[in-house]
Amino acid sequence: MTKKIKLFGLTSIPHIKKGDDIVQIICDSCQKEDFTLQNGDIILIAQTIITKSLGRIKDLKEITPSPEAYEIYNKIKPLAKAENIPLKSPELIQVILEESKKILKAEHVIITETNQGFICANAGIDKSNIEGETKIGLLPKNCDLEAQKICKRIQDITGKKIAVIITDSFGRPFRIGSVGVALGTAGISPLKDQRGKKDLYGKTLQSTIIGQVDNLASSAQLLMGETNEGLPIIIIRGYEFEYEKYANISSIIRKAETDLFQENYEQSFVKLLKSRRSYKLKYSKRKVDKKIIEKCIEIANWAPSAHNAQPWRYIILERGILRKKLIDKMNEKYKSDLKKDGKNKSQIKKRIQKTRIQFLDCPVLILLCLDKHDLDKYPDKERNKKEHILGVQGISASATYLLISFEIMGLSACWYCAPLFVKNIVREVLNLPKNIEPLAFFTVGYGKKTKIKAPIRKRLKDIILEI
Ligand SMILES: Cc1cc2nc3c(=O)[nH]c(=O)nc-3n(C[C@H](O)[C@H](O)[C@H](O)COP(=O)(O)O)c2cc1C
Repeated sequence: MTKKIKLFGLTSIPHIKKGDDIVQIICDSCQKEDFTLQNGDIILIAQTIITKSLGRIKDLKEITPSPEAYEIYNKIKPLAKAENIPLKSPELIQVILEESKKILKAEHVIITETNQGFICANAGIDKSNIEGETKIGLLPKNCDLEAQKICKRIQDITGKKIAVIITDSFGRPFRIGSVGVALGTAGISPLKDQRGKKDLYGKTLQSTIIGQVDNLASSAQLLMGETNEGLPIIIIRGYEFEYEKYANISSIIRKAETDLFQENYEQSFVKLLKSRRSYKLKYSKRKVDKKIIEKCIEIANWAPSAHNAQPWRYIILERGILRKKLIDKMNEKYKSDLKKDGKNKSQIKKRIQKTRIQFLDCPVLILLCLDKHDLDKYPDKERNKKEHILGVQGISASATYLLISFEIMGLSACWYCAPLFVKNIVREVLNLPKNIEPLAFFTVGYGKKTKIKAPIRKRLKDIILEI
């Protein structure tokens, strides 16, 4: 026998206002249209009427945009013009911000993760089908809850086991055209898991999970329409599903960790910060492009510094005679220091050899200096000392940015304090003026080893002092 799924659109639903009882309206319309609900019917309700009944309407005239809203407005203005699409006002952008957990993209369109967890354009805010030029409709705060309340009351009134889906239409990545989606569900699970079932040829399905509520929402959309059709309630009859008391839309929302297309800045940035290691091993022979080094130094220039003095100066030391001369001279001093420390010949030889390998074998050696001309001058010694500390703190911030930039570029690096102990030697060999104070070396290159064990970190409770 031919199989059928039927869709019915209730035609006598009035315009909905704040405080209207949607359940009563559905029951009245069914009665008026001589339509009797049956077990297994699925009632699909357009989100707009839930929004209206809950009074989730805002007037853009009453919104004061924040600086962030203006910033986004100024960014998207030329893009919207280029794409020939209507430009969102700063007031509308402000409401989008308020209705969103996260802005994922603000280009010619604004894609956000709404407070409810949906990823869609403009936080699901609608101007269409809302009365008033400056009025907008917001998504209900909890569509599952609204669906559950409606489902329960209709079941109580009719005695029929029905399901409810609250629907909207969303645009899609990869394909043009909006389609119906479910925002809330009651009595029917969002997903139909087909894994473990057999296909036409008896093969076991490994990964087929059907987004059944979205399929139903989309089919209802055919009858509901988007414009002035005015059919916000559709009943689907004949679709076989298992009744699910604890259905919940969250199961259809892909988690950020498994979303290949959503950039999770927070996660990837934290991962980057924690995976950076000081690289003290052998570098590969791969040449490091000077442009990449300059790019990293440019990023390091965005570090914070007291009075925005930017007192850092970077000297890139390629392999060659000058670098060798510098390291040899530094080692002479190091040798005499080690002797004074009471180290024996073989210990000294070993240490010297180590620094030679570190600083001469790395593809790029960077010397980081403080330019004392950039520091403020005071009449008293004490404040000048503090100002020097501020300068060094700024240098450290820039150095940290530099290490992170190397990590981003796939380079391995290590920060060494050696120049700090031989400032005059470095100045002399490199012919640096007195105002340039050498503070650190960075060895940079492509590491031979990629996985370096992380040194243990102190526990949070050991570094947060309770007072
Ligand atoms: C100011 C400063 C000076 C450092 N000097 C040296 C050094 O002279 N020799 C060295 O082997 N590592 C040096 N390091 C690297 C540290 O040993 C390293 O950052 C620390 O052990 C933590 O390891 P991680 O960077 O892999 O997390 C220095 C780090 C900083 C921040």
